Amino acid sequence: MRHGEPKMDHRSHLYRHRREPAEFMNLKKLFPQFAQVVFFLCLWAVPSHAQFPRSTVNPESADRGAKTYASNCAKCHGEDARGTATGPDLLRSVAVLHDRRQMLNGKELAPLLEKGPNHNFKFDDKQLADVSQFLTQSINSILRSGYNAEPTNLLNGDAKAGEAYFNGAGGCGKCHSATGDLAHVGSRYQPAALQQKFLFPNYGLFLKKKVQVTVVAPSGKTYTGDLVRIDDFTVTLHEKSGETRSFNRTAKTKVTEDNPYTGHIELLNKYTDADIHNLTTYLATLK
Ligand code: HEC
Ligand code: HEC
Repeated sequence: MRHGEPKMDHRSHLYRHRREPAEFMNLKKLFPQFAQVVFFLCLWAVPSHAQFPRSTVNPESADRGAKTYASNCAKCHGEDARGTATGPDLLRSVAVLHDRRQMLNGKELAPLLEKGPNHNFKFDDKQLADVSQFLTQSINSILRSGYNAEPTNLLNGDAKAGEAYFNGAGGCGKCHSATGDLAHVGSRYQPAALQQKFLFPNYGLFLKKKVQVTVVAPSGKTYTGDLVRIDDFTVTLHEKSGETRSFNRTAKTKVTEDNPYTGHIELLNKYTDADIHNLTTYLATLK
């Protein structure tokens, strides 16, 4: 670690490995719904294309990435990156989704790809960017092809089991209440959007809650606000007063994050197919 600082929360989830075949299948089915939500949000909110650069792919870079992928990754992660018995589905990998969404060009994938036992790749920045572009393009094409896909019946789960999971094993009740913040959630969203909302509340154009960050400067003075940007060297926050401040991350600068979405990110590793199904069916009853 660079400055002997505590490891940031928001990174740690990227390195966790999860693998439950049933879940992979389920999330594959969810992508079409995700696409619809994204599509309608776009129609509604987009004055120009430029706002969605993350979906824009440089085709030459993606082509180079496809070749790198085919010769280095496909044997474990599959030709289409949807996973095999020896490597997880990369198109639902939190790390890959994050890379695409934040347009990181593979920067945060690099440490994953250098680490054994499965990986021992030393790619330069260009190669990383190419692989990242290839994966982004693959995700985009699922989103697009999903758009016309047949809607599946999302409401044939077991509502009672969903309720039990909500109040029990899922721990949803720790942060939500069926009669409080989630009252009428079943009327507010169509089933597909509803499912999307609880699977990925941290994705979308207008997040209800922002990641909070606290910086204790070397002087001892403390600053708190919405996280604007963070990397190994600087952190930028937006104070309630409206002031935007940036800090160099020196050894004496203490940074702590409070990410309201951590609970949901962790749940992605926990749900089974049935849990997701039952929860959607249950939440839809909250009219
Ligand atoms: C020998 C098989 C193998 C090869 C080759 C391989 N991987 Fe992996 N990969 C795995 C396994 C197994 C995991 C899950 C365990 C882990 O995270 O190390 C994984 C995990 C990952 C993850 C993290 C997924 C998550 O959990 O979010 C990414 C990203 C990834 N691989 C990308 C790649 C890329 C890109 C290549 C090619 C440059 C590649 N892998 C080549 C086996 C492989
Ligand atoms: C650690 C706290 C936490 C846990 C646990 C948690 N959530 Fe959330 N959830 C949030 C936050 C924060 C948001 C985003 C802000 C908001 O919508 O209130 C959110 C958003 C949602 C939304 C979108 C609400 C809306 O109106 O857009 C749904 C639906 C939801 N969660 C369902 C669930 C379900 C189902 C579970 C259990 C499987 C769960 N949550 C577990 C914190 C949590």
